[in-house]
Amino acid sequence: MREVYLDNSATTPVLPEVAAVMHRIHTGTYGNPSSLHRMGVEAERIKRRARSTLADACNVKETEIYFTSGGTEANNLAVIGVARRLRRRGLHLVTTQVEHASVLYAYRLLEQEGFTLTYLPVGRDGVVSPALVAAAVRPDTLLVSVMHVNNEVGAIQPVAEIGELIKKKNSETLFHVDAVQSFGKLPVQPTLWQADLVTFSAHKLHGPKGVGALYKRQGILMDPLFHGGGQEDGLRPGTENMAGIGGFAEAARLAMASLSAHAADLSKLKKNFSSGILAEIPDTSFNSTEEGAPHILNIAVAGMRGEVLVHALEEEGVYISTGAACHSQRPELSHVLLAMGRKEKEVEAALRFSFSPLNTEEELAYALEKLRVAVLSIRKVTRR
Ligand SMILES: Cc1ncc(COP(=O)(O)O)c(C=O)c1O
Repeated sequence: MREVYLDNSATTPVLPEVAAVMHRIHTGTYGNPSSLHRMGVEAERIKRRARSTLADACNVKETEIYFTSGGTEANNLAVIGVARRLRRRGLHLVTTQVEHASVLYAYRLLEQEGFTLTYLPVGRDGVVSPALVAAAVRPDTLLVSVMHVNNEVGAIQPVAEIGELIKKKNSETLFHVDAVQSFGKLPVQPTLWQADLVTFSAHKLHGPKGVGALYKRQGILMDPLFHGGGQEDGLRPGTENMAGIGGFAEAARLAMASLSAHAADLSKLKKNFSSGILAEIPDTSFNSTEEGAPHILNIAVAGMRGEVLVHALEEEGVYISTGAACHSQRPELSHVLLAMGRKEKEVEAALRFSFSPLNTEEELAYALEKLRVAVLSIRKVTRR
């Protein structure tokens, strides 16, 4: 059966070039970077090169990049690490209602530790107003987290404007941006955004799962989540996932080399697919906007449960999702779409198509046709 993978915001396939780098590290240069001998020195060199590739990709210093086990850990480390270490500066924290679970649940934990939280609302387009963020910042606001691209609907937050307003209001307030969904697709510019902490993950850009990174601006103090050896400056102790780190850097290098070409290709795919949906699938509404990220399209087909369509398309080899992958095993409704003012029925109908530069127009035409047929046949059955 033909297979068309359109769930690239959940994860992406590892590119052959990336897998080749990882294989070489697993079987050849497999030393522990902490070892003193030649194998260790070689591993350390690979790590340094990987750090430098990531630093170059977002225009920061090598020493400001810390490898983690993925986006979840980097978000937890940023939020919990800073809050615990700097709590004397202030007990007020700000974030949005549409963050990824790894940010939201880190903040929930901090609420239990005595911090006060402001969860900012978003508009129907999923975007938070920069003025609202600025208004929420108080003299005792320690940290603000706003994601760059939303994983469910692709809304792009105006992080540069937000960063500027936060710092104007309180220069001591730290700014954290989750760039997991944007890195490798849109420019990620911590310095321009005045961001102090930025989260990355490898598996959304054709790198391996289980590896990510945190950008931490030089001089910011934070507590580690784990305790052990002194790896990653003591901020993330534990023997490094060397193949993962090497693979992440290779994936980032390849993504950055074609950043603007890929963004243009993805925009075209999204635009044509959206037009196709408008023309072929009656009673469909869009939860994503044209201004959103080029690789995510979230729609709702009226009167239809998203889950049913996911399985109907799966039967035809087309893989999509109802929203965030991390939520799809849980029955609860998308907190993102609810925050965007969608009604329960509309939330249940949500479908997310997410693209990669590996997808083709022809694949999307196939997916559209399968969606059209599935919607028609389900509507026929339910009308009976
Ligand atoms: C916006 C966002 N942040 C964080 C994460 C977590 O990253 P990881 O899967 O590497 O833990 C994801 C993954 O879906 C995400 O989409």
